[in-house]
Amino acid sequence: MRINDKAAPRLKELGIELRQGISLADNTSLGIGGTTDEILLRQYETIPQVMRLLAGEQIPYRFLGGGTNVLVADGELAWVVLHLPSARPGVRVEGNAAYVDASADLGGMVTFCAKNDLGGMEGLIGVPGSVGGALRMNAGAYGTQIGPHVREVELYRAASGKIETLSGAEIRFDYRHTSFAPDDVMLRVKLELPSKPFKDILAGIRVCNEKRRVSQPLNQKSAGCIFKNPPGGSAGRMIDELGLKGHRVGDAMVSDRHANFFVNVANASCSDMLKLIDDVRERVRVAYGMELENEVIFWRN
Ligand code: EPU
Repeated sequence: MRINDKAAPRLKELGIELRQGISLADNTSLGIGGTTDEILLRQYETIPQVMRLLAGEQIPYRFLGGGTNVLVADGELAWVVLHLPSARPGVRVEGNAAYVDASADLGGMVTFCAKNDLGGMEGLIGVPGSVGGALRMNAGAYGTQIGPHVREVELYRAASGKIETLSGAEIRFDYRHTSFAPDDVMLRVKLELPSKPFKDILAGIRVCNEKRRVSQPLNQKSAGCIFKNPPGGSAGRMIDELGLKGHRVGDAMVSDRHANFFVNVANASCSDMLKLIDDVRERVRVAYGMELENEVIFWRN
């Protein structure tokens, strides 16, 4: 999707940077996705105006965070991408509170807080992506989820067209799911974290890093786990038990290290990956009578 000649100069007047014809394959951890124009929102305050402008020009859009949990359609995309570029470190610590930009890198935020003797998020260290993405999905690993630490979220609400603040108690955090509306845009978050000496936090971080290194294909292009775990079960174990490690469609392959990670071994297309996902889901359904739900988010065209 191209930003039209009417919208482009008006966006520039608002001081907004445009990038034309970017490839989402270059901007997602799976390395899959077509091309579109991108709007970089450096000033959160301009978001309501930008949204009104896009609505007026009937330009569809999607918000891209860290790009680590999305599977994007191939070809020329029918929507533009909005992105909040990150300013490092994007975190300010005050007592036991951390004020974090949604665009901040999740791992960078965990480390920054650790250096300020604030812990509790050791498990999240290797989860790739932005803090905003982690919030929206209630990212978690090794017994830690971001949700319980959230005290306040500043967000753009498409429903009201305004920037609003929600208290942690107003938000429901479930397993890889939250009560945010699909078109809410995370902007900033206040976390409350327990005090812990840096060296103790570091020891916890090292344990998680090592567990991840031995069980996940970290040096390959993936979007983490493809399916959510069914209640009480493990998608990875079931797929593994079916002997599907290494199973592939084109360049999309079930990782031979962790069966719930599907990797792009070279130049997989979105349609290869979708076929692989459907094939594995069907085999699990036949063998276990269980319908696996996607954990990765599919951005169709
Ligand atoms: N297992 C196998 N074969 C495999 C993979 C796993 O037998 O190929 C077995 C393991 O041996 C273990 C069980 O399945 O007994 C669970 O595996 P693991 O500990 O790797 O955790 P998981 O349930 O597969 C979840 C999250 C991960 C997170 C890890 C660590 C989901 C869908 N996945 O994986 O999150 O990193 O726990 O806490 O909740 C993600 O969300 O993208 C993600 C990778």
